[in-house]
Amino acid sequence: MPVNVCQQLNNTKSLDKESYVSSLLSQMTLREKIGQMSQFNNDNEKLTASIKMGDVGSVINEVNLETINELQRIASQESRLGIPLLVGRDVIHGFNTIFPIPLGQAASWSTEIVESCATIAAIEAANNGVNWTFAPMIDISRDPRWGRIAESLGEDPYLCSALGSAMVKGFQGENLADNTSIAACAKHFAGYGASESGRDYNTTNIPENELRNVYLPPFKALADAGVSTFMASFSDLNGVPVTGNSWLLNDILREEWQYTGFVVSDWESITQLITHGFCADTESAAFEACQAGVDMEMASNTYAKNLPSLIQNNKVNIEQIDIMVSRILTLKFDLGLFETPYTRATSAVECLDNFHLDAAKQAATKSCVLLKNNIQTLPLSKTELTSLAVIGPLADDGYEQLGTWVFDAKPNQSITCLNAIKSHVGDSVEVKFSKGLATSRSHNQDGFIEATQLAHSADVAVLILGEEAILSGEAHCRSNIDLPGCQEQLINAIYETGTPIILVIMAGRPITLEKVIPKVDAVLFAWHPGTMAGPAIADLLFGETSPSGKLPVTFPRTVGQVPLYYGQKNTGKPPCDATFVDINDIEVRAPQTSLGMTSTHLDTHFSPLFPFGFGLSYTQFEYENINVNRHVIKMGESVEITATISNIGNFDAEEIVQLYIRDLVGSVTRPIKELKGFQRIYLPAGQSKSVLFKIHTDELAFYDRQMKHTTEPGLFNAWIGSNSDTGLKTEFEVV
Ligand code: NOJ
Repeated sequence: MPVNVCQQLNNTKSLDKESYVSSLLSQMTLREKIGQMSQFNNDNEKLTASIKMGDVGSVINEVNLETINELQRIASQESRLGIPLLVGRDVIHGFNTIFPIPLGQAASWSTEIVESCATIAAIEAANNGVNWTFAPMIDISRDPRWGRIAESLGEDPYLCSALGSAMVKGFQGENLADNTSIAACAKHFAGYGASESGRDYNTTNIPENELRNVYLPPFKALADAGVSTFMASFSDLNGVPVTGNSWLLNDILREEWQYTGFVVSDWESITQLITHGFCADTESAAFEACQAGVDMEMASNTYAKNLPSLIQNNKVNIEQIDIMVSRILTLKFDLGLFETPYTRATSAVECLDNFHLDAAKQAATKSCVLLKNNIQTLPLSKTELTSLAVIGPLADDGYEQLGTWVFDAKPNQSITCLNAIKSHVGDSVEVKFSKGLATSRSHNQDGFIEATQLAHSADVAVLILGEEAILSGEAHCRSNIDLPGCQEQLINAIYETGTPIILVIMAGRPITLEKVIPKVDAVLFAWHPGTMAGPAIADLLFGETSPSGKLPVTFPRTVGQVPLYYGQKNTGKPPCDATFVDINDIEVRAPQTSLGMTSTHLDTHFSPLFPFGFGLSYTQFEYENINVNRHVIKMGESVEITATISNIGNFDAEEIVQLYIRDLVGSVTRPIKELKGFQRIYLPAGQSKSVLFKIHTDELAFYDRQMKHTTEPGLFNAWIGSNSDTGLKTEFEVV
């Protein structure tokens, strides 16, 4: 067999990356170049023949190892050049072992946890031949109606940047060429989380200043962290769909940020430029996407069909195509694919082995957020209980606890709450189970009789409710974010029995719980915790460890408050309790000027039900002695802010200490609080610790009216506290 181009280059050992890629490029036909820019779905009937012809740069959704190795063999041995394939898959929060949904991982506020989940996901995915994941999703998400909030890292640019970078580190490892590393993808660039009315794929209108200060920082952080690829969003940004948005993809990503990785479209998003009403036909769609800088087309084939004539007619120049193809080949080189296109059977890891399961349990444990704990209902003591009623459609369902994006999961390996609670208490406590409702959406209340009987005869009722997996994720948005179906009625029925209620919620988004909270004694919000939901929740319920998660997103009282987030602007008439008027307190024919005249709704309090950063513990933490080392700092210097945190309860526990600042006066208005640091600390009962945050004036910068990233002199408030709505306050001045 003749030696192909890649094999020849591989034999030239001394070639560095740039020379390898440019030598390869110099031997490619136009068709082969466009082939590298094309990603095929695995069900494409022409896949094998197209790979042979050099028409395929990447395959999406193939996870059968034998098939992938065969496709790699065809690409590297039977195509003219021998260029191996990028094999992409949505490995979002685990591959076989499922970790908490990203929003749940974000509730851990732990870069270590997030990194370790991604590391294990990469090991399992790589072992199956996948070398590229479409994660992390770092769209700032401030609308809980949006189904993809589940896949996000929450509402805050700082937290999202820190955790997103950790996820990239986990996926990509020390070296992309390691056989346990996979390339990551920062998506969806940019603004997708602002889809109007929380409806997926909807229009976004984001003023440039807001875009730069809120939506872009996580993408910049990931570009700096070396994320291999970016994905262009489906959405229309200020009238120009991102897939054809040269300002965003060229001016910002390439020119300003000097990003050198490659950009992939979203699924058929180039052809959707026609549906958006932005392009008249596929030729113009291919032109706009290519000019904008989309290097690879996912799933559709407008590039293959139209780029040849666009180049021939001098509408697109070949130098530009060469740059785009080089970026793709460079990633293949970095992944070591030219040397090792195959996944070696010998590298097989024991998927779902104990190490992976322990990590999944640990992540789920640290992601749960304790929202209420009446007179220490929790933790339960198995020596004091004789019987326990476990109730709810999500208590014993190994699939639903996994959440969205779990193509490759093994639900039969999940451990449910019911099973974990039973094995936790052994024979000492009688555990009775009733679903109460067939599914989380059911309206049929026939099961209430059995459920209430069980609750009535038990010491405690543990209700495991929430949302089935299908109710969040891509295209799974809700206009009403109460507990679905008749779950509130089920809670009310159990409440009537008088038995104390512990409510565990598994869900893909914040749920409006205002009506439910008074009826229950404790609430543990678990998100969709993954494979090890049961053992993690059982450990928390029985006090093996204390809950320590904190909300990465604000919980509204009612959906009408949305968007509600902690970093809002002050407005000219900020809401306050002194002027707040409740609809029920308005006199008939009251003069209109008597209604407070501040920025509130009449029919709900202006505060959230639970603020960003909130989460209780089985112990109490006391914050004291905030201190700033210098009250006046010069531009270019740092300020050190410290506080003493003490565990004054009886339980050894972890606390997430948060630092917020407020820039009091700016040339553009500034948020009333901004997270600037956090630390997860462990404090045994009775112990104290001084926690220090160091802030450089560069970290106080924001985009001003001229879109210049700048720190403006002036006064700053700073708080160290346990959530965004509390904390010890100090101030400093930048001169
Ligand atoms: C569409 C989604 O928006 C994107 O996030 C995902 O990676 C692709 N489909 C591939 O499945």
